Amino acid sequence: MPPFPKTLPPALVVFGGTGFVGTAVLAEALLQNKDLQIFAVSRTGVAPKWLSAEPVYQTTRLSFVSGDLLAPQTVRDALRAVTPKYNIVGCISCVGAITPWSQTNMVRTCGDANINAYTISREIGATKFAVITRDRSNMDDWWYPFPYLIPGYYEGKRKIEEFVERDVENAGNAICLRAGFVVGTRRTLPGLPTSVKIAVPLDGLYKLVDRLCPTIGVEELAGAAVRFVLAERKAETVLVLNDEIPNYFE
Ligand SMILES: NC(=O)c1ccc[n+]([C@@H]2O[C@H](COP(=O)([O-])OP(=O)(O)OC[C@H]3O[C@@H](n4cnc5c(N)ncnc54)[C@H](OP(=O)(O)O)[C@@H]3O)[C@@H](O)[C@H]2O)c1
Repeated sequence: MPPFPKTLPPALVVFGGTGFVGTAVLAEALLQNKDLQIFAVSRTGVAPKWLSAEPVYQTTRLSFVSGDLLAPQTVRDALRAVTPKYNIVGCISCVGAITPWSQTNMVRTCGDANINAYTISREIGATKFAVITRDRSNMDDWWYPFPYLIPGYYEGKRKIEEFVERDVENAGNAICLRAGFVVGTRRTLPGLPTSVKIAVPLDGLYKLVDRLCPTIGVEELAGAAVRFVLAERKAETVLVLNDEIPNYFE
């Protein structure tokens, strides 16, 4: 599909914009570009309750849209009403889950849902695409439990990374941010609806985790994703390592 005329107002689509990383991405995008319209797409399609207490999200530039990336036609249908009116500068996918707990579900949500997000971003003419995958620097350490506990999660992440890497025609416009454990205040828990209000400050816990494996601040991660999709410059590599994220596209 040819890109939309640049005379249209700019917009960003954030898949998984109701989650921990996704809501940080929304805030970063609202702050980094005051002209940007932002569409947050997730299955619920409603703003998490806690957002109503945060001034940054109180704007008509932000809309929540319902669509399930595992039923991609629902996302296409939801976006059909809005995309012709905007120049979609980029899509950021923060979709991925370990719940409901099954390896098959992890492969589907981390892999297939993100492949659908990337495919849809290309269909709607988005210039840039960023997806959050997972740091792999501990994968070969015998004591690191996650490859054994959640192999489906890593397989899903590998699927989307390989899918993006294979699209050589789009080289430089799409990246996978290989994040370590994400530090910040979590206001949604995997498996709990976003209507449930919680606030779990993870910084204390992650001081411990930091000794075992790489971590990254949620604002640093969100900032890198937003800087990349809003920049005209192209990426040099598809895979962005956790250490590169804080200064990425500065
Ligand atoms: N948190 C970490 O420490 C960490 C570390 C490394 C990488 N990551 C990756 O970073 C990404 C974001 O993580 P997070 O902690 O922010 O996760 P999260 O809080 O669980 O958020 C996941 C988001 O995905 C949406 N979603 C799930 N399935 C969907 C589907 N089929 N279609 C559309 N939307 C769907 C959820 O919204 P609805 O429920 O409304 O659909 C939610 O907005 C994930 O890919 C994760 O693997 C996270």
